[in-house]
Amino acid sequence: MENVLVEKFTLSDLNLIKDSLQTDFDDFWNYNILEKELQNNSSIYLCCKLNSEIVGFAGISIILDTAELNNIVIKKDKRGNGYSSLLLDSLIKIVKSRDCKIFNLEVASTNTIAINLYKKFGFKQVGMRPKYYDGIDALLFTFYNF
Ligand SMILES: CC(C)(COP(=O)(O)OP(=O)(O)OC[C@H]1O[C@@H](n2cnc3c(N)ncnc32)[C@H](O)[C@@H]1OP(=O)(O)O)[C@@H](O)C(=O)NCCC(=O)NCCS
Repeated sequence: MENVLVEKFTLSDLNLIKDSLQTDFDDFWNYNILEKELQNNSSIYLCCKLNSEIVGFAGISIILDTAELNNIVIKKDKRGNGYSSLLLDSLIKIVKSRDCKIFNLEVASTNTIAINLYKKFGFKQVGMRPKYYDGIDALLFTFYNF
């Protein structure tokens, strides 16, 4: 039987996926950046495990009453199974429990799948940074369902 759980993403978890991070997850987030993120006191990171295998991770930063989604990444061969939804749902619960009033994120306008994910959870587009990522617009989304 499949066992899926969401729990704290630790440095030892990161070390388990160190060699497959760039190839199997996403080449945007490298080990050194994530290592720093996991040591940052204002960051909270979760991972999703399928039968103990790390299939995705996601993190937020919280400063005062404002949360920001830093990243959400699912292993390429495990996408489309609801794992990012589990992670985002857990992060939203954490953001609510910390009494945040604002939850922001930024996404490339070409990333339709991520945009669908964010809209599914009630994020609304509030702005745009033209040509922000190598000529691609960045869309700014905010969560309103507090
Ligand atoms: C974006 C990403 C995190 C989605 O993860 P996932 O686990 O595959 O997503 P889920 O299976 O939980 O699906 C969540 C929602 O995304 C949307 N979605 C998922 N796959 C989709 C697809 N192939 N086409 C269109 N929308 C899709 C749907 O709205 C879906 O909700 P639904 O199944 O209830 O309709 C994943 O594709 C990924 O890791 N991409 C690379 C990293 C990235 O771009 N991260 C976001 C910016 S930091």
